[in-house]
Amino acid sequence: MYDIVTIGSATRDAFLRSRGIKVIPTRAFPIGKAQAVPLGGKVTVDDLVFETGGAGTNTAVAFARLGFRTAFLGKLGAFDPGGREVVRQLEAEGVTTKLVRRDRQHVTAYSIVLLTSKGERTVLVYRGAAGHLHPREIPATRVARWFYLSALGGDLPLLRRVFSVARQHRIRLAWNPGSDELAHGQQRLRPFLNQAGIVFLNEEETSQLTGVPLSQPGAAFRKLCAWTSAIVVVTAGNRGAVACDDRHHYAVIPSRVKAKNRTGAGDAFGSGFVAGWLRRPGDIRFALQVGTANAESVIQTFGAKRGLLRRIPRSSRLSRIRTVPNRERYG
Ligand SMILES: Nc1ncnc2c1ncn2[C@@H]1O[C@H](COP(=O)(O)OP(=O)(O)OP(=O)(O)O)[C@@H](O)[C@H]1O
Ligand SMILES: [Mg+2]
Repeated sequence: MYDIVTIGSATRDAFLRSRGIKVIPTRAFPIGKAQAVPLGGKVTVDDLVFETGGAGTNTAVAFARLGFRTAFLGKLGAFDPGGREVVRQLEAEGVTTKLVRRDRQHVTAYSIVLLTSKGERTVLVYRGAAGHLHPREIPATRVARWFYLSALGGDLPLLRRVFSVARQHRIRLAWNPGSDELAHGQQRLRPFLNQAGIVFLNEEETSQLTGVPLSQPGAAFRKLCAWTSAIVVVTAGNRGAVACDDRHHYAVIPSRVKAKNRTGAGDAFGSGFVAGWLRRPGDIRFALQVGTANAESVIQTFGAKRGLLRRIPRSSRLSRIRTVPNRERYG
């Protein structure tokens, strides 16, 4: 049995940086701007970097690095080099790939990140095999003490299966739903929220789910806490995060770090929080500190995995990350 099985996407990411990609004004998109290259032209790419990504593999590597017996459960292409690379990297990090499923029709998910010389970016996303995990492919046994579940592309039958396996086999569940899950609305999601042990959302997602305007994050957070018996954790980028259990509300104040690359911040935070919770069950403040330390380390490096911590920091280091009763934060 594993300590943790992470369930979610696995992707191959290519980062292309080019001085030839320009940002131009346009009416074609609501944002009013486009990244553009000359039609029919050939554009020189200055930098090309390959990484593996996807919340399923990012969180698996995070847990394995922190010393937990970890397996990744997700779907890859059957024969493509992208899938081979994802498996190679997971195994090199000590993540078990026995639960990886293979898709003969679709290749491994692939993202192309187009960067201008100033670092503005557009991401082209192909979900591929990651979008075809079948409910039957979730084993109906007690494979782990915990599941860490991230976005499933809004697939409700798959979501039901994961939750029902968890319930039947006493597997605790940490859940970071994606935008396609949230789009199903509060009615459909409330039973799931109630069964999860820990739920992670950012402020925008919390506003979307509760219907409370983004300008009232405290009210949105309290509403979500009242809905579910789960531990609710709401992240707020460079303003840190807040968490509640059935009795206490805490906020964590982030250090002033320079963010080089925000990719993977949410995954690093969530996996760090759960790792802290497993190490010291019941200590929300400690979990908030470990989540913050992991996220801050990731955003100071390139890519979503490179900066993930290799051990839980000593208490002398963690005590520099301040936690306060949430009253001081949201009033
Ligand atoms: N600019 C920043 N400075 C300091 N810490 C940050 C910054 N951005 C993110 N973090 C840390 O990462 C955590 C998660 O970030 P955020 O709230 O942006 O998650 P998210 O929106 O789910 O991100 P993702 O796009 O990865 O899903 C924050 O709670 C904070 O600890
Ligand atoms: Mg997120």
